Amino acid sequence: MEPTHSWGPPHPEQLGWTLDRHILERQRSTPDATGDFTGLFQSIALAGRMIASRVHKAGLSDVLGRAGETNVQGEEVQKLDVLANQVLVRCVEAGGHVCVMASEENEDIIPIPAHFPHGKYVLMFDPLDGSSNIDVCMSIGTIFSIHRRTSKSGPGTREDCLQKGTSQVAAGYILYGSSTVLVYTTGDGVHGFTLDPLVGEFFLSHENIRIPKRGSTYSVNEGNTSKWSPGMREWVQWLKSDEAPGGKPYGLRYIGTLVADFHRTLLKGGVFAYPGDVKNPNGKLRLLYECAPMAFIAEAAGGAASTGTQRVLDVEPETLHDRVPLFIGSADDVADAVRHVS
Ligand code: AHG
Ligand code: MN
Ligand code: MN
Repeated sequence: MEPTHSWGPPHPEQLGWTLDRHILERQRSTPDATGDFTGLFQSIALAGRMIASRVHKAGLSDVLGRAGETNVQGEEVQKLDVLANQVLVRCVEAGGHVCVMASEENEDIIPIPAHFPHGKYVLMFDPLDGSSNIDVCMSIGTIFSIHRRTSKSGPGTREDCLQKGTSQVAAGYILYGSSTVLVYTTGDGVHGFTLDPLVGEFFLSHENIRIPKRGSTYSVNEGNTSKWSPGMREWVQWLKSDEAPGGKPYGLRYIGTLVADFHRTLLKGGVFAYPGDVKNPNGKLRLLYECAPMAFIAEAAGGAASTGTQRVLDVEPETLHDRVPLFIGSADDVADAVRHVS
């Protein structure tokens, strides 16, 4: 008896569409590509697989809880923050593809040891995003941003890191959730890859992600309402009323991990917000390794990202750990937010 269902097109896995192959295809179509970008991406993907392995058995290995120190952000550092940071630095520094790195967990730049070659790229990252969710088994992530160096040669400098979001070569994140998904863009399309832990490879699972022009959810920590500006309070009140677009209130979704809240917004539409408030006028999220990479992805998928007063990608960084308010997601939803809060 013939099966009644069609299996549809072969699954990407069957086509061998791994992340490596996707990056190699891009390299082949880039005139005078040197393979440096490919090598850097492979190092990042290796780090992601190593972090995923620890995250997904965190309860069984001694990586839960606090590391007993505070970082430059003045936050309690979790053991997994430290581990993820070390894994990324170790996986990338020897490859000769970067001249300097910067991390949420390091106050100053991370130099490349003198005995390794210094490459043409700059890598900045939030090694473990959503640290407060580690111990309760909620989704967490890693965020990365890649620039080309501005200095000529030799060891990279802080100025190499202090570049506007528009000059990113690539940006991406790894979401350690019900599955491990790596999403990246080089500005030309946004693509997602799901890790098959048994094979140890990321396979293409979300080709050319486009964010809907408008969604039906908003994502914000309403616990901060009393500290918001009147415009911010009005905007959220409006979304919760029958005057909201579509004539019915938006739903609230908030995990407290930027990577997870953004990934849902990217796939389903809607808007994520971490605004400034009376206590922290620039909000909580960091420009170089949280807001700018996410903004690069959002815009490449047809969405938008604003500080409330300007495009995130246009912000000129002054220090490695600058914070900016963030409104990111569907173009129409972000435009509504900016209209209320600016
Ligand atoms: P990190 O764990 O790297 O410090 O980032 C946490 C950030 C971000 O992931 C999330 O959107 C935000 O903190 C949540 O902040 P609140 O707990 O104040 O809502
Ligand atoms: Mn973070
Ligand atoms: Mn972090």
